[in-house]
Amino acid sequence: MSTTVENLQSKLISYRRELHENPELGFKEYETTKRIRQWLEDAGITILDYPLETGLVAEIKGDQDGPTIALRADIDALPILEQSGVEFSSKNEGIMHACGHDFHTSSMIGAAILLQSRRSEIKGTVRIIFQPAEEIAQGAVYVAERGVLEGVSAIFGMHNKPELPVGTIGVRSGSLMASVDRFELDIIGVGGHAGIPNDAIDPIVIASQIVSAFQSIVSRNMNPFHNIVVSVTKLQAGNTWNVIPEKAELEGTVRTFQEETREVIGERMRALAEGIAESFGARAEFRWYPYLPVVDNDDRFAEIAKEAAEVAGYKAVEAEQVPAGEDFAFYQTKIPGFFVWMGVDGPKAWHHPEFKLKEEALEVAANYFTELSILALNKPELLK
Ligand code: NI
Repeated sequence: MSTTVENLQSKLISYRRELHENPELGFKEYETTKRIRQWLEDAGITILDYPLETGLVAEIKGDQDGPTIALRADIDALPILEQSGVEFSSKNEGIMHACGHDFHTSSMIGAAILLQSRRSEIKGTVRIIFQPAEEIAQGAVYVAERGVLEGVSAIFGMHNKPELPVGTIGVRSGSLMASVDRFELDIIGVGGHAGIPNDAIDPIVIASQIVSAFQSIVSRNMNPFHNIVVSVTKLQAGNTWNVIPEKAELEGTVRTFQEETREVIGERMRALAEGIAESFGARAEFRWYPYLPVVDNDDRFAEIAKEAAEVAGYKAVEAEQVPAGEDFAFYQTKIPGFFVWMGVDGPKAWHHPEFKLKEEALEVAANYFTELSILALNKPELLK
């Protein structure tokens, strides 16, 4: 065993703290990318040549030939003012690793180092994608368009989970995280005097009815066993007390765990909005913006996802679904993949200004993804 492996945990802590102190937003991760490159080069790990402005891709070739699988870590931070109080708090004011992507990045560097030391057990190749811009949901598409998935049979990834203890890995087949879609709706009525509403067509009254009607989609049109969220998050109309405005503007989001329900909901919203507006003599303009697909774990990897936890000496538990989005989902529309929760035992949820995690989980994640990679490549029948 090389010294690199022996000192792994302290090394990963120092990497993680350095990343935490120097967070960068999506597609601005220039210094982050430089650091990752340096640390990988220090460990003698091959870096592949892709035309990426930020982010990078490393590769570990096993001693035996076989398929290629990918591991993915996201590297970007959030526009949040850090209030965690840790001594390595962000030096970039207003930017914070409040989602633990510093943890993901350092853990996957750890996995790269461990895999490098165990090349004799690897039957194929492990590509490690350090992906930019997850928080703005553009990084996965960006790296995939530059060819990083070419020749890759399957992809694995994780998100830290503050609610789970260190050493616990949440595993679930099928949908884990929600699809994320956005909608906009304009109701165009006729403006007028607030005291003479009969000469106007009031878009506020119409918008109110539409907001209520939208809530009936989940309760009346959807399978009661499916988890779905329809949220109207913006409603703007008018600017004074005695004038009926001409227009109301609404915006919001829809979350589902079933790919097939996404468009159905959008169509149902459009029908309700247009029908209700028309019945009042107004007009509805509905726009639907598909944003992120469902994180949909391929059942074939469920067994090895649990087995890897056991082999590494940790515990696999059934993962809970979360109605947030994750652009790992985009990879899963191209190749089969599996995404897990990594317990980090933190006091606050993702994106909280006091977000913290337990650093013991760094080595856990590094060990877990090392075992998972070796197991996956030992079962080429899963990778066809
Ligand atoms: Ni995140």
